[in-house]
Order: sequence, then structure tokens, then C-alpha cells
Amino acid sequence: MAKFQAPKGVSEYFPDRSTHFDFVRSNIIESAANAGYQLMELPVFEDTELFARGVGESTDVVRKEMYTFEDRGGRSITLRPEGTAGVMRAVIEHNLDRGQLPVKVYYSGAFFRAERPQAGRYRQFYQVGIEAIGLSDPRIDVEVIAVAHRAFAALGLKRYHLEITSLGDVKTRENYLKDLRIYIASIELDEETKARAELNPLRLFDDKRPEVKSLMEAAPILLDYLTPESAADFAKVQDLLGALDIPFHINKRMVRGLDYYTGTAFEFVHPDLGAQSGIGGGGRYDGLMEQLGGQELSGIGFGLGVDRILLACEAEGLGIPDDLGLDLYIVPLGTGDQALAIAESLRSRGLKVDLAFGEKALKGAMKSADKSGAKYSIVLGADEIASGVVSLKAMKSGATDSVTLSALANELIERITNYGDHS
Ligand code: HAM
Repeated sequence: MAKFQAPKGVSEYFPDRSTHFDFVRSNIIESAANAGYQLMELPVFEDTELFARGVGESTDVVRKEMYTFEDRGGRSITLRPEGTAGVMRAVIEHNLDRGQLPVKVYYSGAFFRAERPQAGRYRQFYQVGIEAIGLSDPRIDVEVIAVAHRAFAALGLKRYHLEITSLGDVKTRENYLKDLRIYIASIELDEETKARAELNPLRLFDDKRPEVKSLMEAAPILLDYLTPESAADFAKVQDLLGALDIPFHINKRMVRGLDYYTGTAFEFVHPDLGAQSGIGGGGRYDGLMEQLGGQELSGIGFGLGVDRILLACEAEGLGIPDDLGLDLYIVPLGTGDQALAIAESLRSRGLKVDLAFGEKALKGAMKSADKSGAKYSIVLGADEIASGVVSLKAMKSGATDSVTLSALANELIERITNYGDHS
């Protein structure tokens, strides 16, 4: 029978790389939690209209990349291509914006875009995102960027850059779009591209075709149109980034791929990842809540691509721990039943314990103990069961000590909490 294969273009993780993936994801989550962001767990599918209205009809995401289907009740449903619209829907639906502001949340999970698969670009991929909703203050912009920066630092990433720009306020864009439209009307474009520019002329900046790229070289630049208020906010963001020692470049031509952005926008780029170099991005979205039927509140957030950040860590050769963090490995010698019972009782005390199964010879079982990366091991034969005493071996130093089985849990807990990994 033909073997099943995963659907084309999905990312999946299994041991040992899944441990690395989890390490990356948990570091980002920890960085967000350390700044007071709380978990938001949302559905992976939503009403299609939410994304059409939230993300924008002119975007590639909405035009070409959504997994949309009709459910059994005849509703149009879409697998979430991104997280911000869903967060905003939930904030409005559950009145979270009527409490203390800002609402600070993070989310982590799978997202879906029907893109052409290639290295670092998947149809199901993983993001950890954060959103801070309800405050228009450049300090929050910088906090959001700092959460990502601190997560990258915890992972040991060095070679990425932060690119920032400002997409200004409503007045900025009004003035700018007038001039941009005049410019676009003066260049030769095919009908489809013209129609797209009609919906949102900014989209022409992320057109990948060389002929469109070169035509857009001479287009006016949004950053030159910032109103004094927007310019002051952008200057403040730059000052605060400087004060926190977070290096950045200004990328005047950055237009994010989603329509809801206003004000500060940013991307983290890793040079070792080839074409799919964006390891994360985000920005402020002043009109989104209103657009989705809520009150007029601003927000800012990011989405970090966990798959690509793992690739970046690998490209930088970072040593991510790949053992399971086991405290004890038990090698039973004809005592499998008792070993399982002892393992379970130690596990219920919070210790991480694994054991050899099957009737492995001592040599093979000791190899498994070594490979497991456990801090300690014991061999459990009939003698040990009879005497109630085992020889507790510290795997790194090889030192052994006699410990009674009844004191084993306390002894391990004490050593692990007092000596850390001095074993
Ligand atoms: P985004 O720039 O579309 O923003 O996606 C964020 C990150 O997700 C990208 O930088 C990239 O690392 C990763 N990513 C996107 N598409 C793929 C793919 N096909 N395969 C692998 N990784 C991918 C957003 O999604 C916004 N919701 C971010 C945000 C939150 N803005 C404000 N709040």
C-alpha cells in the first residue's frame, strides 16, 4: 500500500528537532509573559469576512493565500492566515477593551497560507504573537519591539537586523496617497496591477516583478510626508530604542504585507535565510478595531515566525539543548514491574524520570542512560529490591552514592534544587 505523506508544504517537528522548536517557542512566550502579556487561545478558523475586512482585500494573503471553505451550515470559513484580526474580534466580542487598558495578550499556534512552498515558507507555519491594545504611546511600540529583541537575545541570535519605519497617521496617508496615485497614473501598468493599486496603491511596493520594482523606484516615499505629530512619535520610538540599546535601520520602503498598519511598522530580518528572510514583523494598527465594528482604539503587536527563527538559530550554529532534561534514568535488571512503579512514584514528586523497557542487557541499557542526557542513573536488580538500597550514579562525574529507595525522591530533589546541574 502506498505510504501516506504529509500535505505539501507543511512544517512538522518530531524528536529531536521538536525539542529545539519548543525551546524557541518557549523563549518567545517567556519574554512576552515577563512583560505582562497573557495567553489568548483562539480558534484556528474564523468567519472569512473577518480576514477580508481586517487584513484587507488588496493583500496577497486575502486575494490568493487563504484556505477558505464552506462549512456544513453553509458558512464561509477561513483557516487563520494571521493572528491580529482574530485577537481583535475576540477583544470586541468579549468586551476586553472595556476594562483596564492596554489589553496585553500573546498567542502561539499554527497559521495557514496557501503560498508556494520553499525553504522557510510553509502552508502551515507557526507564530508566537503579541498584541497591546488600547494605548497610543510610542513607549508601547518600543516595549513590543523589546519583547522580540529580548527573546532573540535569550536564544543567542546575533546576526538579525531590525528594520523600522512609520506609516504615519490618517492625515499623513491622505496627503501621501494623493501624490502616490498621481505617480501611479503616470506609469505603464497592466490592468490587474492597476486594479490592485486602486484598492491600495501601497501594495505596488511589495510587487516582486522586476519591471514593477524598477517603476516604483522613483515613487514618492511615505516617510517624507509624516505630519509633525507622526514625525514626533517616530522620533520618540527611535530615541527609546537607542536608550534600550536596540540597534535598528530605517527602511523607507517597507510596506507590510497586511493592510491594517499605521504608524510604527517593523520587521526582523535574518541574512542567512535566503529569500524568506523575515523572521518576524509587526506594527501599529490604528483603524482596525473600528473597521471590525469596535470602538476607536489603537493597538500594536508582532508575529514572530517560529519555524524561521529555528532555521536562523541553526544557521548561526547555536547550541540548543536537545536532551529531555531528565533527572533520573532507571536501568532495571529483571525488575521491570518494580522499576515502573518506582518511576511513577518519583514522577509524581515532580521528577523527570525515564527507564529502559524490555529485557535489555546491562550494557545496552547503560548506553540508553547515557544517551538520555539524564543527570543520574540507578541500576535496579533483585539485590537492590531486596536490600532497598541503590547506587545513585551522577552521570557527568561518574561518582556514586548509596541511597535507600525510600529516600531516593528526597535525595534527588535536594540535589537538583541545591546543586543545579553540578552532578
Ligand atoms: P506577517 O509579517 O504576515 O505578520 O507574519 C509574521 C511572521 O510570520 C513573518 O515575519 C514570518 O516569520 C512568519 N511567516 C509568515 N508567513 C509564513 C510562511 N508562509 N511560512 C513560514 N513563516 C511565515 C503578521 O502575521 C501580523 N499578524 C503580525 C502582527 C501582529 N502585526 C501586528 N500584530
